[in-house]
This record gives sequence, C-alpha cells and structure tokens, in this order.
Amino acid sequence: MTATATGLTIRVLERDGEKPELIVALARLIVDAYPGLGIDTSAAFERSVERVRDMLAYPEARFAIAERDGELAGAMRLYDYEMNVRGRDALTGGLGSVAVSLVHKRRGIARAMVDWYIDDYRRRGASFAALYPFRLDFYRALGFGYGTPMQRYRFAPAALRDDGARGTPRLLGETDLDAILDCYERVRASTHGLIKRHRTPMERALRDAELRYVGVEVGGTLRGFMQTKPIAGDHLMNRDELEVRDLLAEDDAYAAALLGYLRAQRDQFARVTIETQDAAFYLAATDPRDGSDTAVAPPAGHRVAETGLGVMYRILDVESAFATLPAAGVPFVLRVVVDDPFIAATRGAWTFRFGPHGAPRRDDGAQPDATLTIGIHDLSSVVMGSLRLRDAVHHRSANLEPRERLETVDAAFAVAQPPFCATRF
Ligand SMILES: CC(C)(COP(=O)(O)OP(=O)(O)OC[C@H]1O[C@@H](n2cnc3c(N)ncnc32)[C@H](O)[C@@H]1OP(=O)(O)O)[C@@H](O)C(=O)NCCC(=O)NCCS
Repeated sequence: MTATATGLTIRVLERDGEKPELIVALARLIVDAYPGLGIDTSAAFERSVERVRDMLAYPEARFAIAERDGELAGAMRLYDYEMNVRGRDALTGGLGSVAVSLVHKRRGIARAMVDWYIDDYRRRGASFAALYPFRLDFYRALGFGYGTPMQRYRFAPAALRDDGARGTPRLLGETDLDAILDCYERVRASTHGLIKRHRTPMERALRDAELRYVGVEVGGTLRGFMQTKPIAGDHLMNRDELEVRDLLAEDDAYAAALLGYLRAQRDQFARVTIETQDAAFYLAATDPRDGSDTAVAPPAGHRVAETGLGVMYRILDVESAFATLPAAGVPFVLRVVVDDPFIAATRGAWTFRFGPHGAPRRDDGAQPDATLTIGIHDLSSVVMGSLRLRDAVHHRSANLEPRERLETVDAAFAVAQPPFCATRF
C-alpha cells in the first residue's frame, strides 16, 4: 500500500475477500470509463460485476486501485510478462484497463497510478514496462516510447500467395490450448518482442464464440496458427470480411499454408483484413491494394494498409536495459544523457563501454568517444529496436556528438527485426 503526494492510497486488491460493495464500485468505474463495453442494462451490469470477480481471480494479473478518503478513485491492471528482448527473456510490467472515476478526473490520479506501477515493477527487477495507450501523447509525457507500427492490410483473398505452403490447416478448439501455447513458445524463442502468452486469456479466446482459431499441422504437430473473426457486411451483398490477428508460424512455409486457408475462403469473404507488424507484409499478396482504389499521394501511391501506433515501451532501469544489447563490432565508449521528466531513477548520465566482448558494460570513469542526449521515451524505443537511432537523430528527437560517430553508434542498437507484440492488454 502506498500513500502518494496526491493524498491517494494505492493498493493491490486481494484475489478474494474484498468487500462486495467495492467490487460493484469497481465494475461501475470500469463501465463508466469504457462506454465501448456497451453495458446498458442492469443484467449486463450484473454480468460485468461477475466479470470483475473473474478478473480478480486471473492468476497472471493483479488489480490495483486508488482510493481517496476511502472512496474508489481509480483502477488499473498489472500484468507480469516475460518478453523476448533480443533473444533473452526480460521481466516486463504490463499496464492495462486504466480508469479514473468520473468525478476525480484531471487531478493527477492516472499519473499517480502510472508512477506507482513503474515503481512496483522497478522494485521487482523488471527492465521494461509496456502498455497500449489511450492517448499517445499522455504516455509519451510519462516516458513511454513508440513500439513497432501496426499495419492493417485488406487483401482480396484470391490475391493471397500460398506458394511454398507446407502443412495441413485445421480448425482449433479448446483441447488445442497446450499445442497452441507450445507452438507460440517455439515462435517466441526466435522472435524479438514477443511476450509469453498467459494461459487464461488464451483459454478464454478459444471459448469465444465470435473467434475461430485456425492452425497448420505437420505430422500431428502444430506449426502455426492465427485468430480469425468474420465481420458481417451488408446482408446478402457478399461484403463480409474476415479479420485475422496474430498470424504466427514457425517457418514461412507454414505461414503460406495459413494464407492458403484464407485464400480458400474467397467464395465467402470479399476481403481478408490482416493486422501485422511485419513491414514487408504487402509481399503476401500478388496485388496488395486494399480495394478502395485510393491514391494516398495523388496521382501515385496506392493505398494498401492503414497504419497505427499501438504498443509503447519504457525502460525501467537504464543499466539492465543496456545489458540486453548485443556486442558491438567496433569498440567505443558512449555517454548517454537521459532526460526523464517523470521518474528520477531513469534520469541522468551513464557511460557504457561497447565492444566485441558482449553487452555494453557500464564504466562511468571512461572517456567517452561520443555523447548521446535523448529522452527516456525515445531511448526506450531505440533499445527495443522499434526506432533506429539515426532516425531519432534525423528527426531531432536525439542528439549525437560528434555526428561522425552516428553510423557506429546506430549499428550498436540495430535489430534484425523490430519487436513484434502479439499480446493485447
Ligand atoms: C484517461 C484517464 C485514465 C485519465 O485520468 P486522470 O486521472 O484524469 O489523468 P491525470 O489527471 O493524471 O492527467 C490528465 C490530464 O490532467 C492534467 N492534470 C493532472 N493533474 C492536474 C491538476 N491538478 N489540474 C489540472 N490538470 C491536471 C494532466 O497533466 C493531464 O493533462 P493532458 O490531458 O494535457 O495530458 C481517465 O480520464 C479515464 O479513466 N478515461 C477513460 C478510460 C481510458 O481512456 N483509460 C485509458 C485506457 S489505457
């Protein structure tokens, strides 16, 4: 429990044993904060109270609440995640479902809760934090940097390429939970940014009547899968679409088999929308146009996808975050001057020795070859590899002196593939 400067008390809720009135108040708070949930009858509200009880029991997450004078003022959910950061798992604190009571807004309660969450995960030794922002600028001001952009393609199914496909597609059900989690773990082992999937949400997704999981199997082993959801178009007008999320495969040949399954749905669906952070996914179709025939930059530039910035990352500890970086081909000493208006522990200057020995080593006494001045938000993106350092410098979000060193320093942070995140929270 923590009493903050704003006179709030923030605490984690017990899994059971909390007062029933508090659970009802928490459900009310969430319903008020998220009108999109569509809770508009008392029966629906009763179900949302049950859902909150259920969420409290969810073993891989915690609910924390903020109270002022005994009154519920805010709530958030905290997720313990293991994230593949450049090949090794890093404890990462996930934040979701931030909600502030209608009568307590704009008094710094959300900020105080984010501060508490960062402190909590720092104490537990997490190097990174991650969240999906309701507003990018709000969380950027709190030190979170942009993750890899999400593209939403809208292909004609017949244009999808299934050449080189391997494996047999089949529909998956609740009994495939372990096979899905095992397959996901094999993909995760070689995919920077992927967060270990929690069992409970995956179990629920498999039970969700709106969703269909489709897998590709070889010799009885699941090698890839995706989540699909039909989106109804106009009645009888052949405008239905199939929405695809989290297309994950252990090899390109298995991904091609999943595309083949989607291609075979062309009698039923006018378009297949695929959400992906793969920047070259337009190559998945012989014609990647989205069907709008819109010129993005007239007269050129066919529209092929919509782009969104979603997941954001934050370094919680500069030294342990730098310990995730690989060896550098060319040795150099870098002084990093970090601006962090929100958290003192990640504000200041650190000097690191980069070289072929392995991850950069802190050595504050070393004479720097270059000095990088950067905000914690962009540093977080650069360390995670969702932003190239040279781009941050080019757009005046960071400064490197002397500039002649930029190529060497940029190469030391580069990743083969920007981080993927297939977990929504
Ligand atoms: C979004 C939400 C969590 C923000 O909560 P909040 O407690 O009002 O947030 P804060 O008070 O910490 O900050 C909000 C703004 O008030 C400002 N503020 C903070 N304290 C202030 C004060 N004492 N006086 C005036 N303004 C203040 C902040 O600087 C911030 O300004 P900005 O909008 O320019 O960034 C809340 O409005 C909410 O529950 N919304 C609906 C659900 C939602 O969108 N959740 C987020 C999903 S992750």
